[in-house]
Amino acid sequence: MNDVKERIAAELAAVRGRSLTYTDAEDDLLLRQHSALMSPLVWDLAHVGNYEELWVLREAGGITPLRPEIDDIYDAFKHPRRDRPSLPILGPAEARRYISGVRGRVLDVLDAIDLEDPDPLRRGGFVFGLVIQHEHQHDETMLATLQLSRQPGLVRDGQLPPGRAVEPEEVFVPAGPFVMGTDTLPWAYDNERPAHRVELPAYWIDRLPVGNAAYIAFIEDGGYDDPRWWSAEGWRWRQESRAFAPLFWTREGGAWWRNRFGRMEPVPVDEPVQHVCWYEADAYARWAGKRLPTEAEWEKACGWDPEAERSRRYPWGDEDPGPGRANLGHRAARPAPLGAYPAGASAYGAEQMIGEVWEWTDSWFLPHPGFRSFPYREYSEVFFGSDYRVLRGGSWAADPAVVRTTFRNWDYPIRRQIFSGFRCARSASPEQA
Ligand code: AVJ
Ligand code: FE
Repeated sequence: MNDVKERIAAELAAVRGRSLTYTDAEDDLLLRQHSALMSPLVWDLAHVGNYEELWVLREAGGITPLRPEIDDIYDAFKHPRRDRPSLPILGPAEARRYISGVRGRVLDVLDAIDLEDPDPLRRGGFVFGLVIQHEHQHDETMLATLQLSRQPGLVRDGQLPPGRAVEPEEVFVPAGPFVMGTDTLPWAYDNERPAHRVELPAYWIDRLPVGNAAYIAFIEDGGYDDPRWWSAEGWRWRQESRAFAPLFWTREGGAWWRNRFGRMEPVPVDEPVQHVCWYEADAYARWAGKRLPTEAEWEKACGWDPEAERSRRYPWGDEDPGPGRANLGHRAARPAPLGAYPAGASAYGAEQMIGEVWEWTDSWFLPHPGFRSFPYREYSEVFFGSDYRVLRGGSWAADPAVVRTTFRNWDYPIRRQIFSGFRCARSASPEQA
């Protein structure tokens, strides 16, 4: 096998190892629905195998269906998450057997495939990138489910570098054009394409994500009770949800505590805030005298190299993220302290833009100009419009295979079981620009 095939095989093995770790639990825990927002874990497990069968075996490999009768059960569009427990889903042992049977044949297809094939699904192994990224995204979803389950002892924690004090609080991005999106990054999704020029006025963006200390100041200043800071829809959400702090937080004995994977701990004041919805992020930004960055502002501050006049794959350049540059790939089960990654800074000096938390932006999930759906409409296209807000950057739970300066995530503005946080921005005054 050549280098590319070896790398694909290694990535396939790594992501599967990850999925099996998150589902190494009692059957009951895997079959149970921990929240109406999520699937039972064993649904995710068989779904990634079914997706792999559909795309690699049937579409790219021309192999006849192994178990066509289960396609319907694992079609995310036919069955919303809250209904999935009532489906005749495969049990844990059968699900593991099914996905490992699929995987064996997938490795045969990989062995035989011509990476120079003009078919865009096969060329460069795109279809393998598709299933690897898909499984990693479901693994992050499984972690969110495990967090919602509040069951201790299931999720591995680890060590992270210490934080540091960072000044000044904001970085300046001068007016000018940059190239948003990509035509060339390997395995980029259709929604990241095509690369296109965007002209932006000058702005300031926070050097770091908003931390728990700052967010507590917002709470303790009465931020959740003051409609001035909230959009009309946000205030309605605030009233109905009765939210008073990020999800999983409680106040006890005059201090803030959080439940993290089933254990209570004091809220660490130096970590990026996590588990806030778009409405909370938007309200905080108004309270702070700022606003959320647009998606274009976020991407320019993260990836644009103004000297080379090109976009980087990561904030620091094109080299792979190591443990010293970003908190990605579930090294520990939490965001790293603010200032932990000076070596991960972008050209403009913004830090921790990738890893830590998915960052809410002010933008709806819309197609880039010239968008063409590939390889299927249901990955991105059906979600475009004014229902979903874009999140950028990737959380501590996101794998490097699904993180790059152009990667786009999206969710409903009320969602906060995801590993979501934010940073703020503000327009530069004319004399600064
Ligand atoms: C891109 C994370 C919004 O989980 O709904 C998984 C990814 N697409 N299976 C999602 C996805 C199909 C998607 N997000
Ligand atoms: Fe999926």
